[in-house]
Amino acid sequence: MPPPSSWSPNRFIPSNRPILGAEEIAAVTEVLQSGMLTHKSGAGTYTLRFEEAFAKFVGAKHAIAVNSGTAALHAALLAFDVKPGDEVIAPSFSFIATTNMVLLTGAKVVFADISMDTFNLDPEKVKAAITPRTKAIIPVHLYGHPANMDPLIEMASKHDIRIIEDACQAHGSKYRGQDVGTIGDVGCYSLYPSKVITTGEGGLLTTNDEDLAERLRQIRTHGEIKPYEYVQLGHNYRMPEIQAAIGLAQVNRLPEFLNARKVNAKYLTKNLRDIEGIALPNEASWATHNWYLYTIRILSPRKRDVVQKALHEAKIGAAVYYEVPLHLTPIYRKLFQYKEGFMPVSEQAAKEVLSLPVHPALTEEEQEWIVQQSRQALAQLG
Ligand SMILES: Cc1ncc(COP(=O)(O)O)c(C=O)c1O
Repeated sequence: MPPPSSWSPNRFIPSNRPILGAEEIAAVTEVLQSGMLTHKSGAGTYTLRFEEAFAKFVGAKHAIAVNSGTAALHAALLAFDVKPGDEVIAPSFSFIATTNMVLLTGAKVVFADISMDTFNLDPEKVKAAITPRTKAIIPVHLYGHPANMDPLIEMASKHDIRIIEDACQAHGSKYRGQDVGTIGDVGCYSLYPSKVITTGEGGLLTTNDEDLAERLRQIRTHGEIKPYEYVQLGHNYRMPEIQAAIGLAQVNRLPEFLNARKVNAKYLTKNLRDIEGIALPNEASWATHNWYLYTIRILSPRKRDVVQKALHEAKIGAAVYYEVPLHLTPIYRKLFQYKEGFMPVSEQAAKEVLSLPVHPALTEEEQEWIVQQSRQALAQLG
C-alpha cells in the first residue's frame, strides 16, 4: 500500500487506481531479461502460469488469457458461433463493450432492463425477451455485484441458450458462494488499470468446458491448432508475456485487495447510512460483492450532478458509471432509433448513480475526507 504521509486534501483521490509494486517490477524485469515476450509456440511461460493461478483462484477448470475484456467477450461470442440472425440478450446499463461485440458478430442485441436493487439484469425482463432466435444471454455483474444467476441458468437450459458472464468488474465476486464467471458457460474478465487486478490492458476467459477452452485458445491465435494449420476463424487476442507477468503478481495479491475493498466499503456504509435522500449499495442475501465500485443512488436525480461537482471540488474522484444507458448513446440511437422511456429502470439508474472511491490504495485520512466531504455535499439533499 502507498504511504499515507504525503496525502493532503489538495491531492486528487481517483475513483480507482492500480496498485503495483516490487513483485510486478521483478516479474516484468525477468521477462525482459529472458527475451521471451510471447507465449506463442511455447516460448514464455508467464501466460500459462497466470492462467493456472487465476483458474485456481476462481475455481474454474480453465482460464484463457487474452489482451482485453472486450477480446474475451468477442472470443466467447465467436466460440458459440453467434452470427447474423441470432439474438443476444444484454443489459443497456453497462459498458459499451458488452453489446458492441455482439453487434460486430452481426447478431442483434435485445436489451432487457435491470433490477434497481442489484443494477443487474431483471430475470423477468429477460424471460420476456427470449425468442426462438435467442442464442445467448450476457449477464453483467455490474460494479462487482453478482447478477441473479439461478433464474437465468434455468431459462438458458430450458431454451438451449448460452450464458456468457460479463465479469469484467467482478473478480472475486460470488453468487451463492460460487465465483461469478464460473456459473454460466463462460466468464469474461477485464484487466484494465481501473479494475480489481490489472495487467495494463488485458482480459481472461474462464470455463469448465474442455472443448470450449480449446476453441477459445484457437480463436485467440487465428483459429490455429498447430503452426499454420487453421481450423476456424480467429483473431490475434494473445496476452503478451510482460502483461501476464504483471497479472501473476496481481493474482497473488487479489485476496489482500478484496479484503481491503470490503473493509473500506464497510467504513463508508457505517458512516453514510443515516443520510436521507440516498440509497446505499445493496448486497443481496445470495451475493458476495467484490466492491469494485461503491455506488450510491441520489434519489433526487437533478441533485446528483451537484453532489458530484462538490466532491470534485474537494478533490474526490466521485464517478458516474454510466451517465447514458447504451440504447441512448448517439451511435445506438442512430443505428436502431431507440427513444427515451424504452428501458425505464436503466434510464433512472443512469440519472441517480454516483460511485465513491473504495479502492485498496485509500489511506485512512483519505477515507475520512471522503466521508466528511460526502456528508457535507449530501446534506443539501435533506
Ligand atoms: C462491464 C464491462 N464489460 C466489458 C469491459 C471491457 O473490458 P476492456 O476494457 O478490458 O476491454 C469492461 C471494461 O471496462 C466492463 O466494465
